[in-house]
Amino acid sequence: LDDLLGEGVSGRRVFVRADLNVPFDKANPGVISDDGRARAVLPTLIALRDAGARVIVASHLGRPKGAPDPKFTLAPVAARLGELLGSTVVFADDTVGPAATEAVAALQDGQVLLLENLRFNEGETSKDDASRGAFADQLAAFADFYVDDAFGAVHRKHASVFDVPARLPHYAGGLVLKEVEVLKRVSESPEQPYVVVLGGSKVSDKLAVIQALLPKVDKLLVGGGMCFTFLKAQGHEVGKSLLEAEMIATCQDLLKQAEGRIVLPVDVVAATEFSADADIVTVDASEIPADRLGLDIGPKSTALFAEAIAGAKTVFWNGPMGVFELAPFAAGTRGVAEAITKIDGFSVVGGGDSAAAVRALGLDDAAFGHISTGGGASLEYLEGKTLPGVAALEK
Ligand code: 3PG
Repeated sequence: LDDLLGEGVSGRRVFVRADLNVPFDKANPGVISDDGRARAVLPTLIALRDAGARVIVASHLGRPKGAPDPKFTLAPVAARLGELLGSTVVFADDTVGPAATEAVAALQDGQVLLLENLRFNEGETSKDDASRGAFADQLAAFADFYVDDAFGAVHRKHASVFDVPARLPHYAGGLVLKEVEVLKRVSESPEQPYVVVLGGSKVSDKLAVIQALLPKVDKLLVGGGMCFTFLKAQGHEVGKSLLEAEMIATCQDLLKQAEGRIVLPVDVVAATEFSADADIVTVDASEIPADRLGLDIGPKSTALFAEAIAGAKTVFWNGPMGVFELAPFAAGTRGVAEAITKIDGFSVVGGGDSAAAVRALGLDDAAFGHISTGGGASLEYLEGKTLPGVAALEK
């Protein structure tokens, strides 16, 4: 982005791919529950706006099926972005249709326009190169330059991420640059001891990253819903807890391969149902009653994990330890997060859910080395995969 600003952008049209895929409050539709992703792209938007560029911002929101769907409109995000920027954000209620075309033509120097959800258009996510290309042609026609600051979406081979940069002079925004630098540091030269904390619901989602990280880490601490498949693989009964039966054998292999470096919870908070009002007990991980499900790691596990974290020089954390949104099941995630803030080393929080947990628990962002805006993107980077959005910028 600095290179582009150096060339001078006053009066030029700059297309900024942002990741404004923010979560909404389930109880209050239209109310954004965590605007971290919008805040993360502000420096890029402010720099371009203040340099007099005509800024065209585009993002996806949720997973609509290639056609307009009012549930996934970016209109509330445009309003929030305007508040954060302290200047009006014009909103076009289509992405490449007449409203967008008119709004782009009317843009003044230093104005910011947000297009409607990219995924209201089939071409955005299409696997067919021609269909993606046709949509990319329409997007690219709006601008003179392309800036990618949507780190959360760089792992998607989508038109706005992969094909538009092939059609315009392209630049990495400050957020993408910082995220890639941090993840490079953690994956190529992590200072030892290196402790990875993984949570979230499914082992299958994390399998590739576990396999990639296992040779590099001193300890891999596993909590969240995914720990129950590992506990089952160790021979424990897990009651009604989340279980991926087809992954049990894989977990057994991983445990063998890890030679003690995969650390599992020793106790869990188990409830009769998925509710804060359920009957809740803390039990040993080997004694989960048949009629209960584990919804958080227990205090002994939290202490065990905190001790492992305390000795680390590098920590990467992805995925909550329990259902932190419900108060009775938040202690494990809080304990682990607090332990990470205290290390004498470098910590990275990866993933929408873990970043949202940090903020929902009222922890200070600044206490962590880096909070990534990308969930899937940061995991795929650590897996060693080529990220289409990054590859497109490198070309
Ligand atoms: C995310 O939330 O991880 C990014 O915004 C990407 O969203 P997606 O998984 O729907 O592509």
